[in-house]
Amino acid sequence: MIVDDFSTTIYDGRLKEERVRALLPKAKVVRGDMADGNWFWRVTEEIRPEAILHFAAIAGIRYAQKDPFAVIRANVTGTASVFEAVKRVPVKRIVYASTSSVYGRNQKVPFHEDDPIQLPSSLYAATKRECELLAEVYRHTSEVQSIGLRFFTVYGPWGRPDHAIWLFTKAILTGLPFPYTIMGTRQGILPRFMISCAACSLCLTVPRFPVRFSTLAIPTLKPTVTW
Ligand SMILES: NC(=O)c1ccc[n+]([C@@H]2O[C@H](COP(=O)([O-])OP(=O)(O)OC[C@H]3O[C@@H](n4cnc5c(N)ncnc54)[C@H](O)[C@@H]3O)[C@@H](O)[C@H]2O)c1
Repeated sequence: MIVDDFSTTIYDGRLKEERVRALLPKAKVVRGDMADGNWFWRVTEEIRPEAILHFAAIAGIRYAQKDPFAVIRANVTGTASVFEAVKRVPVKRIVYASTSSVYGRNQKVPFHEDDPIQLPSSLYAATKRECELLAEVYRHTSEVQSIGLRFFTVYGPWGRPDHAIWLFTKAILTGLPFPYTIMGTRQGILPRFMISCAACSLCLTVPRFPVRFSTLAIPTLKPTVTW
């Protein structure tokens, strides 16, 4: 079952709906707001799922500057809804999406799951770090087991309209200037990972509960933590 509010925030909600219909035509789709904790609890109680893959978020660094309260609500309250629901309706496996943005102003490369990450450089990153902290609290106080996947840039064949490929293609087609400068390093632009790699990371993590670690960086399929 898929839960999504299909809201138009960082991009058009109609595209999200069409994508779900195309990729998962047989899935039951429930439209709703994850940040409504009581509603999500009722859904969880009705379905009693074996696993929750919590990817819902407003995933835009720039959008967070435009509408910070919406991003805080969707990302932080939305994640709290998951943990509150599974406190009441036990769910064995919870995997949630975090982000490489949590590494923020970390100077040390390559990044490692154990790096200190006290210096986020965007509101979006701070909301995702808050999700990781919530996960730790529920692990400690309620024995709720979860894994946060720190995705670097991931995308599928449909892409995401706020990602560079779409923006640049649109700029080329309309003849308008490129909306952003490319922020690369001397080594080049950061590699991007197809969603299939992200999907692999799910296939690897979901069956592995109970787990001995809480977050996993996903630029690689060879985790630096011990399974
Ligand atoms: N794609 C990336 O490069 C990337 C990188 C790092 C982290 N992430 C994280 O991975 C997850 C998935 O990202 P994505 O690229 O698929 O983004 P996306 O915007 O395509 O998908 C997020 C979905 O969450 C839904 N959503 C947002 N708020 C909601 C709410 N309150 N209730 C119900 N549904 C809600 C949106 O409608 C959308 O369909 C996000 O948590 C994001 O922060 C993605």
